[in-house]
Amino acid sequence: MATATRVTWDRDPHTAAKHALLRRYLQAWAPILLSRNNVVTYAEGFAGPGIYNGGEPGSPVIAYQVLAGTLRRSSGRVKMVLVEKDPRCKAELEQRIAAAESSTPSPDGRLDIQITQGSCHPDLLQELARTGSLRHPAFVLLDGFGGPKVPFSLLRQIASAHPKNEVMVTFGPAFLWRFTEGDERHRATGDAFFGGTDWHGVFEQPSSAKGAYLRDRYRDALHRAGFQHTLVFEMLDESNHLLYLIFGTRHPRGVEKMKEAMWVVDTTSGVRYRDPKDPNQQALDLKLEPDTSPLRRILLDHLRTASSGRTVDHLKQYTLLETVYRPTQVIPLLKRMREDQEVDISPGRIIGTSHVTAGGQTALFRT
Ligand SMILES: C[S@@+](CC[C@H](N)C(=O)[O-])C[C@H]1O[C@@H](n2cnc3c(N)ncnc32)[C@H](O)[C@@H]1O
Repeated sequence: MATATRVTWDRDPHTAAKHALLRRYLQAWAPILLSRNNVVTYAEGFAGPGIYNGGEPGSPVIAYQVLAGTLRRSSGRVKMVLVEKDPRCKAELEQRIAAAESSTPSPDGRLDIQITQGSCHPDLLQELARTGSLRHPAFVLLDGFGGPKVPFSLLRQIASAHPKNEVMVTFGPAFLWRFTEGDERHRATGDAFFGGTDWHGVFEQPSSAKGAYLRDRYRDALHRAGFQHTLVFEMLDESNHLLYLIFGTRHPRGVEKMKEAMWVVDTTSGVRYRDPKDPNQQALDLKLEPDTSPLRRILLDHLRTASSGRTVDHLKQYTLLETVYRPTQVIPLLKRMREDQEVDISPGRIIGTSHVTAGGQTALFRT
């Protein structure tokens, strides 16, 4: 895994996947938000140097490119608020942003960029307040190296500042179970990160379940902070270090657009990216079809809970908010389920007709 002992470092494949996800999401987010708001904010608490060893752009430069491009077609203004702790990285970032501005100038100066050398906490919030950015909808990327450096209080303040605010946090759970349960300082760090002590249950989990356990506690934390909907994208580097990107929003539209971005990066399951050990693996992955068999089971279970069936719109909304799948996957799947006689379609309603019992036999039922 890359660390910041140098000003710039190599871009890992999973970082490229994260950038693809970010670019895709911002390409949807920026025009939607700018069509309804005069000012929107893009902020980063761990901005990085803006470039990788191979010349690839860092996340602030990617964001600049998308936002400047969007402003050519939209009215309104964008504020970028970027905080970076390492002065060398901050200096590099200033140069990279200046280069991006000269190749894609900000239309009529409607993109204002503040780069601050400081710590994500408390400097990010102070900068957002100083620049008046808290009065506008913001997308806040908190992309540290994965350690628990983002205090829960920061999440809560971002959530409460504006109902359209969204966050995406990089979280590497291994740090939190590496230490012994009795390490007080370590527990205090975790408590500040999760905003409580629920996560202590990780010490009772088997090794194979610890990552998912902490992931779910962090989703709970985002809910408590005020982000009603969360999505998780899992990344594994070549050495199997686990990193989660956890997204929080209050808007179904945000969920929909982030899922679309996730399914572009992971065309098979929409939830993960693993650094390829074999360079050919990446090409193979791209050819795999989306696997919607879990969604088939989820929909059948859900249909069982409503004796009069469900509307297609309901099933699409349920899929959006309660599963990792996208609403656009529902109708093609329902057609296949009807061909397989798993559902009936009566006027305006979908009704489950059969399910496979635990013993593997098909039993008829009508929900
Ligand atoms: C993973 S890199 C960011 C990469 C960047 N988001 C990108 O995708 O191009 C994390 C950065 O956070 C910086 N950093 C580490 N601790 C920090 C802190 N407490 N506050 C702000 N920045 C910090 C590091 O110097 C490093 O540049």
